Amino acid sequence: MKKILVTGGAGFIGSNFINYILGYRDDLFIVNLDKLTYAGNLENLKEIENHKNYFFVKGDINNNELIDFLFKKYSFDYVINFAAESHVDRSILGSEVFYISNVVGTNVLLEASRRYGIEKFIQISTDEVYGSLGSTGLFTERTPLSPNSPYSSSKAAADLMALSSHHTFGLPVVITRCSNNYGPYQFPEKLIPLMIINALSNKNLPVYGDGLNVRDWVYVIDHNRAVELVLEKGKPGEVFNIGASREMKNIDIVKLILTKLAKPENLIQYVKDRPGHDRRYAIDSSKIQNELGWKPQFDFEKAIDQTIDWYLANREWWNRIITGDYQKYYKTLYGDR
Ligand code: NAD
Ligand code: DAU
Repeated sequence: MKKILVTGGAGFIGSNFINYILGYRDDLFIVNLDKLTYAGNLENLKEIENHKNYFFVKGDINNNELIDFLFKKYSFDYVINFAAESHVDRSILGSEVFYISNVVGTNVLLEASRRYGIEKFIQISTDEVYGSLGSTGLFTERTPLSPNSPYSSSKAAADLMALSSHHTFGLPVVITRCSNNYGPYQFPEKLIPLMIINALSNKNLPVYGDGLNVRDWVYVIDHNRAVELVLEKGKPGEVFNIGASREMKNIDIVKLILTKLAKPENLIQYVKDRPGHDRRYAIDSSKIQNELGWKPQFDFEKAIDQTIDWYLANREWWNRIITGDYQKYYKTLYGDR
């Protein structure tokens, strides 16, 4: 039985990872360490909360004593660091917590992994570390890092720290850089769930700038299958891009959601652009395809339908979220719309 420390496992991608992997494997024991920020939600893990190979710990990756205690107690084989502040708009409103959690917190985990010795450390990074593309070209693993937001600069810093731990101390680190994910349990501050929920509530759909920014979409389970492969076969010191070659203009996603929900296009409202808004992301994932045999399995049209259906079937999940603090945040960004 291999023991994995999964951090940030109550968030969108981390919870999908735990549900996915414990859903079919019984050779792994997972300790999920999550601070339960606004984005962490134990409801995402209801199906596996009593699984014999699962244990939840509420805590901060910056808590050195707790991290030390957990490493001593469990002798982890692997660490997968999903924990992060993940939303670009929030990083523009206030950057400090992004550097504390994403940079300093990652260092706490790297140092503990070094002290105790582990087989592999996976740093879950993002394609945003590469900056922005023009109308052509793709990000490869050799594209120079050029992050543009406080969020992406914090993720780039963590990548460099992780790679330097490998280079200097031989820590077996592998980095994954994935493009935009969609799927169940995504917090409704991100484009796809926000637009679905606003459309269902007959609220305006705030599209930044001209709506022509491009993102490259991958279904969350395809991302997590890639993380699993990297855990098994990824060579330490390497970086793997993950993406499904599904570029979409934001406005086209928004119109698609409205069509599927039979809602009128006059709900779309063009709003002030995000400061420093990256124009286009597009991933070359040939390295993980050729070296590890990964391929996306989910077709965008079907998976976006499934995602919309999930939000339709899980109104209680998002209704609880879109009250309270979230409303204050939404008001800060969009006023009273
Ligand atoms: P999320 O915001 O939904 O979840 C983040 C989780 O981390 C939450 O459960 C939160 O409580 C936890 N967390 C935050 N700070 C913590 C701390 N200091 N200690 C312990 N737990 C903490 O984010 P997500 O969308 O699931 O993203 C997960 C990871 O994947 C992040 O590292 C993000 O940078 C990366 N990523 C996300 C995407 C995407 O499209 N969402 C794409 C590529 C990479
Ligand atoms: O590329 C990977 C990254 O994708 C991850 O590293 C981040 O954690 C994740 O949040 C995501 O970042 P983006 O900034 O691309 O995602 P977001 O959903 O915030 O926005 C997607 C696009 O939609 C972007 O061009 C901004 C635009 N947008 C977003 C919101 C929330 C709008 O036009 N209106 C909105 O209300």
